[in-house]
This record gives sequence, C-alpha cells and structure tokens, in this order.
Amino acid sequence: MLTNREPLAIHGGSKVKTTPFGTGKRFGFEEVTELVEALNQNTLFYHFGGKVKQFLQSFNDIYGVRYSVATSSGTAAIHVALGAAGVSVGDEVITSPITDQGTLIGILYQNAIPVFADLNPHTYNMDPQSIEARITERTKAIVVVHLAGNAADMDPIMEIARRHNLKVIEDCAQSYLTKYKGRLVGTIGDYGCFSTNDFKHISTGDGGVVTVNSGEEADYHVTHAFADKNYQRFGSSVQRDLHYLAPNYRMTELQGAVGIAQLKKLHGICERRRQYGDRITAGIGRLPGIQAHHVEPGNECTYWFYMFRLNLDELTCTRTEFCKALEAEGIPNMEGYIPDVVYMQPLFQKRTAYPNSHYPFELTGITYERGLCPNAESILQTAVRLPVNEFYTEKDIDDMIAGIRKVASFYEKR
Ligand SMILES: Cc1ncc(COP(=O)(O)O)c(C=O)c1O
Repeated sequence: MLTNREPLAIHGGSKVKTTPFGTGKRFGFEEVTELVEALNQNTLFYHFGGKVKQFLQSFNDIYGVRYSVATSSGTAAIHVALGAAGVSVGDEVITSPITDQGTLIGILYQNAIPVFADLNPHTYNMDPQSIEARITERTKAIVVVHLAGNAADMDPIMEIARRHNLKVIEDCAQSYLTKYKGRLVGTIGDYGCFSTNDFKHISTGDGGVVTVNSGEEADYHVTHAFADKNYQRFGSSVQRDLHYLAPNYRMTELQGAVGIAQLKKLHGICERRRQYGDRITAGIGRLPGIQAHHVEPGNECTYWFYMFRLNLDELTCTRTEFCKALEAEGIPNMEGYIPDVVYMQPLFQKRTAYPNSHYPFELTGITYERGLCPNAESILQTAVRLPVNEFYTEKDIDDMIAGIRKVASFYEKR
C-alpha cells in the first residue's frame, strides 16, 4: 500500500518501475513474404503491380468504404483530399492548432489560408462552436484532427459543415479504428486521411491513404488523379490532360506490400492500445490534480499516446517537477505534446509560407495572435504525455498508474 507521502525516487526513495517495458518486433515473416512477392512482379509501379491495389482493397474492407487512394505520406493524403475537395487560392480552411504540421502543409500548398478553431479542454479535439464562429464567406473546408486516437465530436461538426456547404476532411493520422458513436472515424466526413509513417499504429516506412466517402466514382477519379500528377489511369487507358496542378504522391509497391501485412495486425494493435489507455484512465481518473485523457461515452479511443493534464492549483509542484519525478520513478513521459500551438510557429507569426512572400496570408490580411485559441494553449501548458505501446504488458500499465499515483499523492496540496 502506498502511503500519501512515500518518498519519491527523485528524492532517494525506491523506484516504482523496476522491470523493463515490454518490446516486440513490428515486422516479421509476413512483411518479408509480401515484399518478395512485390519484387517478383518485376515492377514496383502501383498501376502495373498488385500490392497497392490489394492494400487498398483490405483497407476498404476494414473501413467499409468503396473507394480509397494510396499516397506517399499522411501529409500527402491530406493535400490530396484538399485538392479533390476543390480547395484553392484564397479559400479558408478551419483546422486544429494542436497537430502535426502535416495537417497544414497541403492547405498552404493550395494557397489556401489556415484558420484555427479552439479545442475541447478534455478531449483536445476541435470544439464545434469555435469552428462555427470562425466560418466566413471564404471558408471552404474543415480539416478535423482526431488527436491521439480520440474522436472529435463529428455529429455537430457535420451538421455545421452541411449547413454552410463546407467539405469535411478527417485527419486520422493518429486515429486508426477510432470509433465515434459506433462509427469509424475517417468514414464520417467527405474524406478520411491516414498516415503509415513509421511512428503510427501501422507502418509502411512512409505512406498514407485517403478514403473517398461519397462512394461516387467521379469523386474517386478526381482524388486518384490528384495523387498522380492528374494522370487519369484507369484500366489500360491513361488520360494526361492537365487542367490544373496536382503533385506526384504515389505509393510504391514496396509500401503496398508491407501495408498488406501490417493491416492484418491492425485490429490487435488498436484493441491492445484501447484497453491500455482506458486502464490508465481507470487508474488515475479520480486523483486530485489530475485530469485524465477524456473519451466521450460511446466512443472508442485507440490511444496513439495518452495525455493527461495537471490541475496545478491542486498540486504543490510545477509541471516540470511532476514530470521529472515521474521519470525518476521509471515512467517515461513528456511535458505536453508539440511545444506550442502551431500558429505560434514562425511561418504563421511572420506569415511566410514561401520565402520573400506573404502569400496567401496577404489575401485576407489574417494575423495569428497569442490567445487566439486559449484552451489549446492551456492544454499544451498543463499536459503530460505518456507513450502507449501494444508491446507493453498489463504490468507495465499498472506500473505507470502506480507511478502517477505516487507522484500525484506526494505533491497533493493539503
Ligand atoms: C495528426 C497528423 N496529421 C498529419 C500527419 C502527417 O503524416 P506524415 O508524417 O505521414 O506525412 C501526422 C504525422 O505525424 C499527424 O500526426
């Protein structure tokens, strides 16, 4: 039994975590077999080989969609969705200030202007009311980021989008098999975008997928072409007419091959992460000074990471002291996620998407001030991030909980 004031390891007390965390191999014989088959095709081009096609077929089966397009990265997937949605010069796109820059790159390459909505302080996802408040006559689309495996509140977001005639692109790079009221995220908006970079639930080294949720063949054709220089490659016909710009974001057969094998592991990976994250919440949810990573009832989070917040009014320490003490207990953790909201990056502060230019920001004169999204700023100042990994054991998770409980009890204000 822990007493409230058990000495912390950082002060010379005994450590909570005395055994190494579980590890494992992400790639094995299944990937090797697929890769050898890919090479034996004597082509690594997605249109001539069968691996990317099979990867997408498996993806479509898992997600219950008719059409999807493979890309070279998650960033590319989002750019492709924006291009397919018709986002163009001077349009505004509403998105989240806590995300990877991959969410923003396609917006700016289309010469559209990112506009940031504030977040729910508990789920760290976009607040529908804040989205609606940021809509102007220039708004063309919303890129909804489902952060860390947790679903954004899609019903009101879709209702707002339909009312204002906006396209919805779901950024699911961190959220495989995440469920919103029983539905898989990535299938609710117009497009769902996924990343298979090496840090995600599944990896093809790099890569991505865009789902085309209208199920319309014409939408699929536009999306497919936007990932392939606007070449229209269907069956044996190739149409090369260039009406507008599109990048080359093609996936290779090698990535497709690894993806086929990785998708077979996806359910197991996500289920394990879901159980582990929810177990952490059950273990730390009622501690003073701690606000657990909130998942709305009826949703399923697949925890790309676990992020709790500190209520520093209830603790006698700073966040840095808390994190260092937890680290000394043998529990790896990080202060916050990205260092600051994305609009505090020099690119937004100096409005320089391109060197020696303020384009496209100058089209509207937009500026990005500190305080624009107060909840998002405060989340990053008070959050503590824990890695979650499917190779961890239940004992590892229980040790994480015990470490947090010990440190929180020590620093509890009485
Ligand atoms: C939320 C989010 N969106 C987009 C991306 C971009 O994906 P990629 O690195 O595959 O380009 C990432 C990757 O880190 C991400 O976490």
